[in-house]
Amino acid sequence: MDLYLKGKTALVTGASKGIGRAIAIALAAEGVKVFATGRNLNSLNNLANEIIANGGPAPVFFAQDLLAPDAPSNIATAALSAMGHVDILINNAGQSQPVSPAGSEEPWNKSMTLDFERPRQLTEALIPYFIARKQGVILNLTSTYELRSLNVSAVAKAALAVWSKQLSSELGKYGIRVNCLQPGLIDTDNIRPYFPGNERQKFAESEIPLQDFGEVQDMADMAVFLVSPRAKYITGTVSIVDGGGRRSPF
Ligand SMILES: NC(=O)c1ccc[n+]([C@@H]2O[C@H](COP(=O)([O-])OP(=O)(O)OC[C@H]3O[C@@H](n4cnc5c(N)ncnc54)[C@H](OP(=O)(O)O)[C@@H]3O)[C@@H](O)[C@H]2O)c1
Repeated sequence: MDLYLKGKTALVTGASKGIGRAIAIALAAEGVKVFATGRNLNSLNNLANEIIANGGPAPVFFAQDLLAPDAPSNIATAALSAMGHVDILINNAGQSQPVSPAGSEEPWNKSMTLDFERPRQLTEALIPYFIARKQGVILNLTSTYELRSLNVSAVAKAALAVWSKQLSSELGKYGIRVNCLQPGLIDTDNIRPYFPGNERQKFAESEIPLQDFGEVQDMADMAVFLVSPRAKYITGTVSIVDGGGRRSPF
């Protein structure tokens, strides 16, 4: 199926590894020029080499810590200058942040910044350009919220989902779509440390109808569809890729 993505441009944050890397590779395979961000320059360089080796459009990579206050403007400016315009924004960077019920402010500030404020600010930096072109696609990676322990990232992602829904209502009239993509448990560095040994198998067998964690490609396949013109009537949604692990509506 032609996804009509060839020749488009996409900014993907957190593209140096995990889900973001898989999304960047999948977009490039569809002929999309990718602007890839992360902190690890070597990993971004490896990503670029892999995309070029696969015959995709040469990506641009940009190392930037999203916790820096000027990160959103730095990234938006560099992406616009490198690619001329941005058709697709994928706010993927994020990190699990477990906390105790009563603890310090630091992890709350850090994780709310990385997983909510920065994607909101980067999006806001690009909105005027999307509106001027009367087109644009925004996809925000969110998270399951059905946790049995406190995790700031999941709280930040809940805010991201609510904000995304509200934003979709504001921007639809400009031809701009805003959606969320919610992973269950996807096998990446982000969650591996929490399931040592045979914990992954035990958890999956009791909690996930499809009996295992997902793969990054499962996320990339859905992401590529959602940002493609094939999904032109889809906005304000949260798509869940979780092997059936979700138990109740939001
Ligand atoms: N995997 C899951 O099961 C799962 C579950 C729920 C939600 N999610 C969400 O899905 C998204 C992708 O997660 P993942 O599992 O693919 O994680 P991952 O493998 O740990 O990759 C995270 C990406 O985010 C980037 N990143 C992290 N902190 C950053 C910072 N301060 N500045 C700039 N970039 C930063 C990392 O870049 P560098 O390493 O180069 O810094 C990396 O590219 C995240 O938003 C995460 O919250 C994942």
